[in-house]
Amino acid sequence: MNSLVLFVGLVSFAFANSACPDGTIGTSFNKLCYKVVKTPATWLSAQFDCNRAGGDLAASTNVFTNQFLLNLSIANFPNPGGFWIGGSNLVEGTGNWSWIDGNVWSYTNWASDDPKPTNTLDSVAVHIPKGRPRNINSYDAIQMHSPNGFWYDASKTGLLPYICEIPINPSRNCPEPNWVYFGKTGSCYQVLAQNDTWVNQHQACLNLGADLASIHSNIENLLVGAFTLDTLQTPQASNGIFFVGLNKNSKGNWTWSDGTSFDYGYMSGPYGNYGSAYGSLQYSAFYWAGVSNDLQKYPAVCKSDSF
Ligand SMILES: *[C@@H]1O[C@H](CO)[C@@H](O)[C@H](O)[C@H]1NC(C)=O
Ligand SMILES: *[C@@H]1O[C@H](CO)[C@@H](O)[C@H](O)[C@H]1NC(C)=O
Ligand SMILES: *[C@@H]1O[C@H](CO)[C@@H](O)[C@H](O)[C@H]1NC(C)=O
Ligand SMILES: *[C@@H]1O[C@H](CO)[C@@H](O)[C@H](O)[C@H]1NC(C)=O
Repeated sequence: MNSLVLFVGLVSFAFANSACPDGTIGTSFNKLCYKVVKTPATWLSAQFDCNRAGGDLAASTNVFTNQFLLNLSIANFPNPGGFWIGGSNLVEGTGNWSWIDGNVWSYTNWASDDPKPTNTLDSVAVHIPKGRPRNINSYDAIQMHSPNGFWYDASKTGLLPYICEIPINPSRNCPEPNWVYFGKTGSCYQVLAQNDTWVNQHQACLNLGADLASIHSNIENLLVGAFTLDTLQTPQASNGIFFVGLNKNSKGNWTWSDGTSFDYGYMSGPYGNYGSAYGSLQYSAFYWAGVSNDLQKYPAVCKSDSF
């Protein structure tokens, strides 16, 4: 308790709000609770940790919030140093920066040489056939520096501490527990870590009131793929295969088990031509492939509507 009082005293506008989850910090100026995490992580692992807590990496949408986050950093992290906030150019093939929580992108506080023009996605994305899932490695994220508060275009693979924001009154909710909500897709996801056949994994998702995940955009492909590997703690280069809702219909065309349209991605050439009627996401590129036979066992990821 003493440390909390001392902590609150150091950072104006922060206070203990009983509506906030334990271990998070309320504010007097918005309806968010902030979770300060000292353990360094990659940008996406940090984001998924925030997702599991019901939020996102913190958006810094105005000069006041930027100063508030900077104050939290100075009170908690190595100073000088850097920490992750929720900005990245992860979103599909544009190179555009955005907040992962869906906030409008307007205020920025870039350092003078940032963002680095050579680090935009466009040069990567134009070479990828339309509809093909994009590789997770082609994006950058924002590191805020303390004590100056400026933003740097940073490689997301760097390990940094981070600050999550958790809404007091989330507008969307996932079934409890074990589901995470991605604002970028508006759906909830849960990983089934045990190995089983597609048919059994499908049934397990149905038993949760959900279905195997269907995928309808690059950002959904990247988030679902990376979240599943992060949850399985699978090294990205090996064993990174898991089931999604891909299955062939009686005419041999790929479909989604949840009945949504097959409107994104592709399974042409060798990827679609394995013996099984069932499909998976594969490795860190999250391309889609049929599996070699119907008895193959892999982890899986379920998807549910939020409510
Ligand atoms: C940040 O800390 C400074 C120094 O303690 C304080 O004057 C200022 O009000 C704080 N700003 C915010 C937004 O918390
Ligand atoms: C990306 O930025 C460009 C230039 O500002 C803009 O024209 C385009 O609409 C943006 N794309 C998205 C998906 O926001
Ligand atoms: C699933 O199978 C893989 C490959 O055999 C194995 O490495 C992994 O530990 C298994 N996972 C579980 C949860 O049993
Ligand atoms: C299956 O896919 C082929 C090639 O796109 C298409 O011509 C055919 O109409 C599809 N069949 C069904 C039942 O969707």
